[in-house]
Formats: sequence, C-alpha cells, structure tokens
Amino acid sequence: MGEGEFGERVSTGNAELDSMLEGGLLRGSVTLVTGAPGTGKTCLGLEFICHGATQMDEPGLIVTFEHFPKKLLRDASSLGFDLPEMERKGMLRILFTSPEIFFEQAQAPGGLLDTMVEELGAKRVLIDSISHLERLTRDAVKLREVAFTFVNALLRHGLTVIVTQEDPDITGDVAAAQYGISYLVDAVIILRYVELDSAIGRAILVLKQRASSHDKRIREFRIAAGGLKIGEPFADREGVLSGLPRKREVDAFVEVFGRKGKS
Ligand SMILES: Nc1ncnc2c1ncn2[C@@H]1O[C@H](COP(=O)(O)OP(=O)(O)OP(=O)(O)O)[C@@H](O)[C@H]1O
Ligand SMILES: [Mg+2]
Repeated sequence: MGEGEFGERVSTGNAELDSMLEGGLLRGSVTLVTGAPGTGKTCLGLEFICHGATQMDEPGLIVTFEHFPKKLLRDASSLGFDLPEMERKGMLRILFTSPEIFFEQAQAPGGLLDTMVEELGAKRVLIDSISHLERLTRDAVKLREVAFTFVNALLRHGLTVIVTQEDPDITGDVAAAQYGISYLVDAVIILRYVELDSAIGRAILVLKQRASSHDKRIREFRIAAGGLKIGEPFADREGVLSGLPRKREVDAFVEVFGRKGKS
C-alpha cells in the first residue's frame, strides 16, 4: 500500500473497507472492531491477517482468548483461509492463551509477545477479543490502566493491530460503542445487525480514524467466502445504527405514492 496523505497505509485485504478508511489502516496503529456476537469481527480480523500472510509478505500473529482453538480454524476454513498452511510457511502464528498470561507477558520486555513478534517478523496482529481483559479486574479505573498498558505494549513493535471487542448491545445507539478502549485506539470500526424489510442484515461504519479523513457513511455488508462483502451505503434509510432503520420520509412517500409524473 502506498503513502497516504497522513502516513503509510496497510490494506485490510478488503478493497471497500480500504476505501472507507481512505486507503487502509495506518501502519503502526491500533484499530478497534466492535460489534455484537456474530456480527463478523473475527471474520474481518482474519481477512486482514490472511491478506498480509498470503498477499503482502507480512507475517501475522493471532492472539485469541477463546476456549476452542478448533472453532477459529473451522471459521477460517469456511471463509476459505487455510491457517495451518500459513503457519507451516512461517507466515502466521496463533497464540491461544489466557488474558492473565498474555497481559503479564505483553508488559515484560523480552516476554512472550516480544519473542513471538521477533521470531515471526510479525507485521500484523489480531487480538480476539479484548473483552476478555475484563476478566482481569472489575474496577473500571484499573481496567483502563490495563487497556492502556496493553495497547502500548502492542505499539512498541510498530505493528498494525486489529483488536476486537464484544459489544453487548445487539443493536443500539452509536454512543454505546464509545465506552471502553475506543479513546485509546487510532480507529474504530462498528459492526451492527440491522433489520431491513423484516430480515436481519449487517451494517459497517468507520466511526473514527485519527489524523485522517474517512467515509462517514454506513454501509451494508454480508459475510461470505473471502470475508466481508461490503455493499452500498444505506442511502434511503435513517437510524441504521439503532438497528431499526426507517426509510426517509420522502423516499417512503415516493414509494407509496409514486414519483410525480409516474402512475
Ligand atoms: N463462509 C461463510 N459464508 C457465510 N457466512 C459466514 C461464513 N463464515 C462465517 N459466516 C457467518 O459469520 C458469522 C460469524 O462471524 P464472526 O465469527 O466473525 O462473528 P464475531 O463478531 O467474531 O462473533 P463472536 O462475538 O461470537 O466472536 C456467522 O453468523 C456466520 O453465519
Ligand atoms: Mg469472534
């Protein structure tokens, strides 16, 4: 990826998402991907890591706190990503660990994170998901400190990082995504379920990107082999992030009564 107006860009592996981000993620930045369970956070992260490992000669590290390693491999395989093959080629390492161990190791210079990043020559990292850090403490102030230390540890190596976070709200106002670590990161991407004409769809929005402009429009997407298939912006809807978008009054009016001159 080329040099953008605000620094070098790293492709997410998804051309539409890159264009929403005005060229991609900033190299050496941390991006938070937040959304309800099943919205596609892991899928987006895998696309980013696998694109680096297979297309860009950028080794990737996946750190997961999930309990079932097989699930990650199965999910990746259903998207068409062969993680074991990437591991064999030395382009990927997957670290299944606990938040306690990882947090301790991430802080220590020469610890597990440093060693893995150096051995692999990692350029990209996926942390899936940071919500598990909440297990470390119930104290909100302490949790902020933990998150701060954690993000800084990741940035020490100039890595480009995607961190996922579970958003307990299935749908809801965008303000709900503003809590947690979003103030610490360089960019925030929100995934949401939306009800569209009585069916459940998905929506994606780049909420913020530090030191750069970005597409402010909410776009529809679906998940299929290869990753996120991002479609058109919700041009004729309002309130998409509430989960229950309404057609704009004028569009609804036109739909019911037809355009002037048309029957
Ligand atoms: N190959 C595929 N084709 C179509 N849909 C798929 C495919 N692979 C995964 N999905 C869909 O992707 C969704 C899961 O996405 P993903 O695991 O990325 O969500 P998540 O936000 O990480 O969820 P969680 O919070 O539970 O980890 C599932 O609902 C599944 O239907
Ligand atoms: Mg997931």
